[in-house]
Amino acid sequence: MEKVVVIIKTIRSKRLYFIAGAVIVIAAIIIYWSYQSGNDKGKPSGTKADEGIPSLAQTYAGYFPIGAAIEPNQTEGPTSELMKKHVNLLVAENVMKPDAIQPQEGVFTWDNADRIVAFAKANGMQVRFHTLVWHNQVGGWFFEDEDGMPMVYEIDPEKREANKRLLLKRLDTHVRTIVEHYKDDIKSWDVVNEVIEPADPDGMRASEWYKITGTDYIETAFRAAREAGGPDIKLYINDYSTDDPGKRDLLYNLVKSMLGKGVPIDGVGHQTHISVQGPSVAAIIDSIKKFSELGLDNLVTELDMSVYAWDDHSNYGEAVPEQVLKQQADRYRELFEAFKANKDMIGGVVFWGISDEHTWLSTFPIERTEAPLLFDTSFQPKPAFWAVVDPSRLDK
Ligand code: GLA
Repeated sequence: MEKVVVIIKTIRSKRLYFIAGAVIVIAAIIIYWSYQSGNDKGKPSGTKADEGIPSLAQTYAGYFPIGAAIEPNQTEGPTSELMKKHVNLLVAENVMKPDAIQPQEGVFTWDNADRIVAFAKANGMQVRFHTLVWHNQVGGWFFEDEDGMPMVYEIDPEKREANKRLLLKRLDTHVRTIVEHYKDDIKSWDVVNEVIEPADPDGMRASEWYKITGTDYIETAFRAAREAGGPDIKLYINDYSTDDPGKRDLLYNLVKSMLGKGVPIDGVGHQTHISVQGPSVAAIIDSIKKFSELGLDNLVTELDMSVYAWDDHSNYGEAVPEQVLKQQADRYRELFEAFKANKDMIGGVVFWGISDEHTWLSTFPIERTEAPLLFDTSFQPKPAFWAVVDPSRLDK
């Protein structure tokens, strides 16, 4: 302070006062500006970051809709901006699952799901429903008998039969109530999710649904959905690893036999949670072709591409190496070229999220750095984005 006083005292002329004042003002502006831009670095930049880049959905307008999974709180903020610009189809990541919509018998909670539908409508997007039936994220009450005991442990044949009827009745009510609620707004429905499990006896997932009803739950769900929704809604059976020939054929045989019984299945949802290592694009397309031969539509319903191979539990830590992101881009490019070439068999491509800032793979199978989507954790386009939108930008 003393030094400053001494310096000021030595500045005698008006000219020097003026120069000193100007220096102080300029310094203050520079300090303020650098402080502000430092703050901005920590802010999500989705709104501005992607200005001037092409829209994913518009790029694919001549091929198929492009979708993404969303949570209700993402209908605001930077994720919502990315969604509005790049996708024309939404799916609820969690809030339309059985436990979210009917947590207790007869108690239907629509608010969160309605928020997503309202956001989609306000922005001219379609919605698909995921999922009426699943073995995960489903209220335990479905599978309890009249006395509150788990149905699966019942050994008396008559009581088992009564339990089966009760479960199918509950399922029928669940499906009809939800389809009634959304049939005007939602045309594409995942009716059952993940019913095939090659490791289980006879290839059907040994879920409570299956243990109590056999395959009747699948039939009941599709028939109830069709009856409640009419011919305009499209009904899908959704599963992962549909590219694996063993699993694919189990699913194919189930669908074929259901169609033979008049069960109203319109299409197959291929989740397509893949990795930079596999499966091959050819295997993915082969499966799509196989189901098309049954006259069914195909949707890619949950696309993302882990930067790790499936059996690899390592962690890149700070950042995914550029080489891996390049490899990811090359594979996304190959995949979308194949989708485009087979567009007549593909009714839509839905990503499981939009940016690496929010992905289930950050905690599955372990907590680690992941980057499976087209936008990075700062909502910026990755090489994978350019690979599917304008590959010429990759070579620059
Ligand atoms: C499955 C389900 C999705 C989602 C993902 C992981 O693929 O179908 O709803 O739960 O697992 O998040």
